[in-house]
Amino acid sequence: MIAVVMETGRLLSAIISRLYVNSCCPPTSDMLFAVVVNLALSVAAVITVVRTIPAVSKMFIGAGLYGRDMNKKDRETKIPEGLGVITGCVFLIVMFLFLGVPFGQHFMNPNASFPHSEFSEFLTSLLSICCMLFLGFADDVLNLKWRYKVVFPTLASLPLLMVYYINFNSTTIVVPKPLRVYIGMTADIGPLYYLYMALLAVFCTNAINIYSGINGLEVGQSLVISASVIFFNLIELGGYQGRAHAFSLYFMLPFTASTLGLFYFNKYPARVFVGDTFCYFAGMTFAVVAIIGHFSKTLLLFFIPQILNFLYSTPQLFRLLPCPRHRLPRYDPETNKVGPSCAEFKASDLKHPVLQVLRLLHILKLVHLEEGLGDGEMCRINNLTLINFILIWTGPQHEGTLTKLLLVLQVFCTCIAFFIRYPLASFFYD
Ligand code: UD1
Ligand code: MG
Repeated sequence: MIAVVMETGRLLSAIISRLYVNSCCPPTSDMLFAVVVNLALSVAAVITVVRTIPAVSKMFIGAGLYGRDMNKKDRETKIPEGLGVITGCVFLIVMFLFLGVPFGQHFMNPNASFPHSEFSEFLTSLLSICCMLFLGFADDVLNLKWRYKVVFPTLASLPLLMVYYINFNSTTIVVPKPLRVYIGMTADIGPLYYLYMALLAVFCTNAINIYSGINGLEVGQSLVISASVIFFNLIELGGYQGRAHAFSLYFMLPFTASTLGLFYFNKYPARVFVGDTFCYFAGMTFAVVAIIGHFSKTLLLFFIPQILNFLYSTPQLFRLLPCPRHRLPRYDPETNKVGPSCAEFKASDLKHPVLQVLRLLHILKLVHLEEGLGDGEMCRINNLTLINFILIWTGPQHEGTLTKLLLVLQVFCTCIAFFIRYPLASFFYD
């Protein structure tokens, strides 16, 4: 049986290798065999997630881990929360089982030198992901304050940065062509590079978490991003950095598979909530593959909607405007549609130029501002999220339609990202 499986794997990897015959550094047969085994384990992962979630949902409710769907008529039903932990655990189990494939041949052949640096990268990547999964679950159980949500991803990325320091310690960036006359071909940015990588982990984890609130959005956006990363890795597998992209594929395939299982239950109408557990787990997995795979800039291109959502949110995140506990869209039970939700404040509570800037943004239809409410001093503004922004332009939407619209936007942004990464990048880089 094992021999048949091995032979099938070898056959499939031989077929895949034909795709790379014309590439400069075709992937090795061992690398492709590992990808095929990883793919088979990913299929097992999606089946496991789909079977486990219904089996444990009641246990979560029993343990007090549930939420109410705020965009439904029925707000009494308890929806199990934090089911991302199942996805994360299945992912980790698959990765532990898979570990023997790329490194097993070295165990069996004592004469071959063992790739200690690659092995340590693999283990620390899993450690960082595992830490974020644990911290996300702690957040779902304990409702942590926002300051911890910023500190924890930084701490969880430290082992990874240490391994990066030991294995590469490359802090040199290639300067875009127009700036080369001033700076030169490359620039060594030293410790700033490590700061950038730590911030990448903080950004990826929180950016997914704050672009949420309607059924299926957290998981849906992660699926589009992971599919984009896989597509990018497959293109680059035959390039000079083939090993790094194979490493990313080993993580991204099981991640996508286990997330697909979760999406089945979280899509509209949601039967489970994914919790911060999933958002942190997903964000850290993306950060890890981008750091070790040396494609952090490309990863950020796949985060265009999340970057826009973060920039638009900054006045509320940095408390220039009040930020309610929930900024998700407001549900109208009469129309069964969701519209933009609002935050209220007193005009006199704002710092000097903020109200003037908001008035200008209102004229440009970038925010919806109402003034002179209540005693005449009260104002109302839409919560500054990309979801509410889109609702201002499109008008109220059915929740399921809105999720589909936002996922189409995510795919559209991925197309822009590939355009920037390939045809456009040649104007700026060799
Ligand atoms: C983040 C957002 C918050 C948003 C929340 C919803 C910021 C600063 N924080 O907070 O504005 O309201 O996510 O995900 O932007 N829920 C639904 N339907 C869904 C998903 C979630 O009703 O499809 C509700 C449920 O009551 C669920 C709760 O949101 O229990 C989960 O919120 P939580 O993840 O704890 O919020 P935060 O991540 O802190
Ligand atoms: Mg959340």
